[in-house]
Amino acid sequence: MGSLDASTRITREARPTDVDELVRINLTAFRAGNAPALSPEAAAQLTLDAARGQWREFLDDRPEGTTVTVAEVGRRVCGFAGAGPIRDEDLDASAGELYSLYVDPELWGQGHGMALHDAALHELARGGFASATLWVLEGNNRARRFYRARGWEPDGAERPFMGANSLRLARVLKVEAPRGSAKGA
Ligand SMILES: CC(C)(COP(=O)(O)OP(=O)(O)OC[C@H]1O[C@@H](n2cnc3c(N)ncnc32)[C@H](O)[C@@H]1OP(=O)(O)O)[C@@H](O)C(=O)NCCC(=O)NCCS
Repeated sequence: MGSLDASTRITREARPTDVDELVRINLTAFRAGNAPALSPEAAAQLTLDAARGQWREFLDDRPEGTTVTVAEVGRRVCGFAGAGPIRDEDLDASAGELYSLYVDPELWGQGHGMALHDAALHELARGGFASATLWVLEGNNRARRFYRARGWEPDGAERPFMGANSLRLARVLKVEAPRGSAKGA
């Protein structure tokens, strides 16, 4: 089943019971997206068991300010996006981070990535973040094109990741409530 009626897609907050689908999509999409950028040895380092443990912990005890949005058509999870406070220490806390954006490779090109991207950025803006960053492998051309079309630009930061080079991208967000402002004021 490679095509779904994307017009019936909903986005919602992830639940602990989504863990198996999130892990499966995380691994298959990461491998499919990054295959040209990674050595086979590096790609093989990612295992289902390690990813499941990390995801279970994260979903059971979500760090403050983080969100995981799931896209679903019918009862099928199509992908997810994780976002929250920035983890890099060289930028101040007005920046949020898009931690992850993964769509089931069987369902690429049907708008699920766009829907998840927009939902995650909306959550960041709602949290009062003025800008956002993300890390993407330099050789992940599909994702880089996707992000370029949505206003993301390299900010000059780079770091090694699994034997490849990773670039940081940044973009401005529409702030809905500046961080630190009193709610309801
Ligand atoms: C990057 C990724 C999230 C995109 O997901 P996706 O669901 O394929 O994204 P979309 O379908 O919304 O958009 C993909 C392209 O299809 C186009 N598209 C969307 N809906 C479409 C439709 N109904 N008909 C035709 N084209 C369509 C979009 O315009 C977009 O084109 P662009 O990339 O040239 O701008 C996905 O490829 C993925 O999971 N990659 C692996 C993981 C990864 O690299 N994540 C990002 C780095 S952390």
